[in-house]
Amino acid sequence: MKAVIPAAGLGTRFLPVTKAQPKEMLPVYNKPTIQYVVEEAVSSGIDDILIITGKGKRSIEDHFDRSFELEYFLQKSGKTDYLKEIESISEMADIYYVRQKKQKGLGDAISCAKKHIDGEPFAVLLGDTIAQSKIPCTKQLMNVYDKYESTVIAIEEVPDERVERYGIIKGSKIDNSLYRIEDLVEKPKLEEAPSNLGIIGRYVLSHEIFDYIDEVPPGVGGEIQLTDALRLFKESYGCIFNGKLHDIGNTVDWLKSSIEIALEHEDVKEELKEYLMEILK
Ligand code: G1P
Repeated sequence: MKAVIPAAGLGTRFLPVTKAQPKEMLPVYNKPTIQYVVEEAVSSGIDDILIITGKGKRSIEDHFDRSFELEYFLQKSGKTDYLKEIESISEMADIYYVRQKKQKGLGDAISCAKKHIDGEPFAVLLGDTIAQSKIPCTKQLMNVYDKYESTVIAIEEVPDERVERYGIIKGSKIDNSLYRIEDLVEKPKLEEAPSNLGIIGRYVLSHEIFDYIDEVPPGVGGEIQLTDALRLFKESYGCIFNGKLHDIGNTVDWLKSSIEIALEHEDVKEELKEYLMEILK
């Protein structure tokens, strides 16, 4: 299976940080956010990844490319740990790039992948969340796809105050973690939301999605919404994600996630904890 990672957005929620750098390259502790997402795809067994980019996103390509100068320098100065890490980033997967020419929404970005995908089911991973779990989130979806051979998307219960930020599903429960989807709404008002089950940005889609994207008119925000195209599937499933999600879609959530993820690193954990307690006194 191939994966598609849309990374063409302007990152307006992060301005001015994102004026001259892509939001996908913002660090979460010691790695750019997009590296976590690529790692999830790779640990799900995917080695062919298409990143949908746009203007001003060159540093993403540089990040996953080799850097001979840097590797030479690290080798010469005996910094072998760094060298190994740097080399492994460029060897993780075959990464391809295509540019979305106009900012017409997530659905439109996904449609840029049509030729590369070539009729197969494929995974989509959005960069606004880092998903941590024993079985990677995308792999959890691939397992459901194998069983039902239908589109499946990862969902999670979201608190009331966040419902408006997500695509929300209406579904009938099949078991503790699986729903058959009856309807989907992109960013509904809380009173209009059919449930509190939010789409968290991981999908395994059948290739028919490309026809459906062509059919839907612009939706919320005047954009071609992936959620609207998903409504056209006769059969699709929502799978409750089993793991921990870190939202990095806006500055406060990104900061919280950065701290939480830094606290998972033994070498800085104690120092950071002490510091946080000190400044919160
Ligand atoms: C997108 C999707 C939305 C989903 C969300 C998850 O919205 O359109 O359905 O719930 O990602 O992060 P965005 O956050 O890009 O506006």
